[in-house]
Amino acid sequence: MLKFAVIGIGRMGFRHAYNLYRHNIAGAKLVAVCDISQEARDKAKKFKGVGIYEDYKEMLEKEKLDGVVIATPHYSHPEIAKYTIEHGVHTLIEKPVAVTTKAAKELIECAERCPDVKVGVSFNQRTNRMYKYAKKLIESGDLGEVQRVNFTATHWYRSQAYYDQGGWRATYVGEGGGCLINQCVHQIDALINIVGLPESIISTMHTKDRKINVENEATALLKYKDFDCIFTASTHEIKGTNCLEIACDKGKLVIGKYIMKVYKHKSQKEVNATTTFGYGATPSFKSYKTYGFITGLKDLVIGQQARSIRAFVKEINGTGKQLATLQDGLNTMEIINGIYLSSWTLSEVTLPIDDELYESKLETKRMAEINKSKEE
Ligand SMILES: NC(=O)c1ccc[n+]([C@@H]2O[C@H](COP(=O)([O-])OP(=O)(O)OC[C@H]3O[C@@H](n4cnc5c(N)ncnc54)[C@H](O)[C@@H]3O)[C@@H](O)[C@H]2O)c1
Repeated sequence: MLKFAVIGIGRMGFRHAYNLYRHNIAGAKLVAVCDISQEARDKAKKFKGVGIYEDYKEMLEKEKLDGVVIATPHYSHPEIAKYTIEHGVHTLIEKPVAVTTKAAKELIECAERCPDVKVGVSFNQRTNRMYKYAKKLIESGDLGEVQRVNFTATHWYRSQAYYDQGGWRATYVGEGGGCLINQCVHQIDALINIVGLPESIISTMHTKDRKINVENEATALLKYKDFDCIFTASTHEIKGTNCLEIACDKGKLVIGKYIMKVYKHKSQKEVNATTTFGYGATPSFKSYKTYGFITGLKDLVIGQQARSIRAFVKEINGTGKQLATLQDGLNTMEIINGIYLSSWTLSEVTLPIDDELYESKLETKRMAEINKSKEE
């Protein structure tokens, strides 16, 4: 039985700790938790027989740990992860892996120096069966070349009350961005997992109807070698949309919140080369497939967090694959930092982004935020 600890037992970390404590993760159990907040530590007293610490370094010294889950605010992920990795503890990091590509790369270098330690990122939405099916379908080539992609991720509604909870959320100082780095990092990961990284990015961002310094809306043109993708994110729409549409030469797939539709038809290119019809010459559907309704939140949402740790435990035991690697985490940062950089500099940004330029631009945003709060 692997001995696990959770570092940061706020909203997310508490859930991870609970899953481990309740033996919801086969092959692993909770032996310790750590949080700098007294309130969080008091709450953790319900985990009977589990060590409770304020300092993760002390926890690592006193407990014989096989693995940790890091669920602290984003900026601290690389620093804590480097420490646990260097101390030989398998490390699962909550998304986002870091706030900047530079920090993510330094973490990867650290992990490469410790090849016996497993390190993963908790992109729990990779357990969504529709995304898994889409990846398989696109990679199989069954639908032909990708022609166009649209990803609308405007379903993460957050009111002013959410932001008024204060703390690190929705600030450059506390989390390094807004809806992209916090909520839509999941959809950005899903996109990359299915169609890979773009070559360059052009974007705009807005803050609508909320008193926050970071974006709650972003629209990006992600330019791939052979197609374009429009990625739209927002957290201010009541009736938001979560929809990925991938149009290909021989078909198309549309993934909504609970349904995936797959259309298959003859190659448009082949039909176009010979057809004599000018209008309505759409190649007749060879087949039409609906992957099926996936009903109820339970299937897609409840249990994703536990599945993420289960996959990580399998990776450690050599019986399966974890959901996402550090490189996957870095890839999402390339797009997120790239969207921010394009919007801040009003220019097209080529990937991989300029890490140092990004660090300096983010620092300017952080300083502006600090100065603004002093004036208020
Ligand atoms: N995968 C998901 O679906 C998902 C969902 C929610 C949050 N998250 C991620 O989990 C992380 C935490 O989010 P949250 O909503 O739980 O935040 P939170 O503020 O509720 O909890 C964070 C906790 O970390 C503690 N903490 C801060 N620094 C610490 C340190 N150095 N050592 C120990 N404890 C420390 C805080 O006191 C707090 O209790 C974020 O990175 C977030 O993106 C992931």
